[in-house]
Amino acid sequence: MRGPVRSSPSPRLRGEGRGEGASPQAQTDGSDAWKGPLTRNERERRAHSDLSPQAGRGEGPGSLQPLLAVERVSLSFGGVKALTGVSFDVAGGEIRAIIGPNGAGKTSMLNVINGFYQPQEGRITFKGRTRTSMRPYEAASGGIARTFQNVALFRGMSALDNIMAGRTLRMGCGLFWQMLRFGPALAEEVAHRRRVEDIIDFLEIPHIRKVPVGRLPYGLQKRVELARALALEPELLLLDEPMAGMNLEEKEDMSRYILDVNQEFGTTIALIEHDMGVVMDLSDRVVVLDYGRKIADGTPDEVRRDSRVIDAYLGVAH
Ligand SMILES: Nc1ncnc2c1ncn2[C@@H]1O[C@H](COP(=O)(O)OP(=O)(O)O)[C@@H](O)[C@H]1O
Ligand SMILES: [Mg+2]
Repeated sequence: MRGPVRSSPSPRLRGEGRGEGASPQAQTDGSDAWKGPLTRNERERRAHSDLSPQAGRGEGPGSLQPLLAVERVSLSFGGVKALTGVSFDVAGGEIRAIIGPNGAGKTSMLNVINGFYQPQEGRITFKGRTRTSMRPYEAASGGIARTFQNVALFRGMSALDNIMAGRTLRMGCGLFWQMLRFGPALAEEVAHRRRVEDIIDFLEIPHIRKVPVGRLPYGLQKRVELARALALEPELLLLDEPMAGMNLEEKEDMSRYILDVNQEFGTTIALIEHDMGVVMDLSDRVVVLDYGRKIADGTPDEVRRDSRVIDAYLGVAH
């Protein structure tokens, strides 16, 4: 496997007119301030994909067989309605952003998709199979991997062991053989190990593979988490604010890795992200939630001009 394609040195986010303190209003003014820092330009990316928005996407269910379809999903916790009748789809090969103010229901949506939460209403179709809810194991073995809003790794374990743990579901041999590290399990572990090392190289973290995760800086912990999710070789990767808490440089790096994963592994990605500039740069299509309802769905350009989206973001601190 070849390494990630990246051009370096890369332009940085700094001075691009959309610093951390930029107001939501300023971020939706449609000016060139939106032009993000990523050298990977959209045209180049879409040229590699037959899934351009012009190819019939975003025209509602049925226009193209989606990898994932969420239909009229409602989820409540006691009296709190986290999601109300939300429908959207994710086409194979795309990067789909889910955005919205805090408490909009974004994380809940990912939790429904990968089976952590069972919705009271609605249904999910993944790879053509429809169900009212997923089980987390089904989701993972069926090809859905996930990272979390807060780093969820074994802090005392090395980066390598954390990533290997993400591989467990791929391991065909029974636990019996695995524990003995003998016979078929040994050969299998070698093969898995090789695959994991490939991912480690891809994300450029070989130097930290023996380091306990708890000792790593935050940006690298997030990268290990991404590596662990990739170890499952998912068809659909769910990323919950993969850049939260990162500085601009770390954000830019993570953006690139996400693009590289999408392009080079062909992994479909659903991504929650607060930095609107990053969303605009990375995503093919964006679904916007507010108070548990979908308020907009379309290309980044369409969504950023949508008055309901602008209203939803006004006065919301991130
Ligand atoms: N496990 C839970 N128990 C009770 N309420 C929850 C739970 N998870 C989320 N919520 C509520 O559901 C709403 C949506 O939350 P969440 O999906 O985390 O939003 P977001 O990720 O967009 O910030 C919020 O009002 C939140 O308080
Ligand atoms: Mg959240």
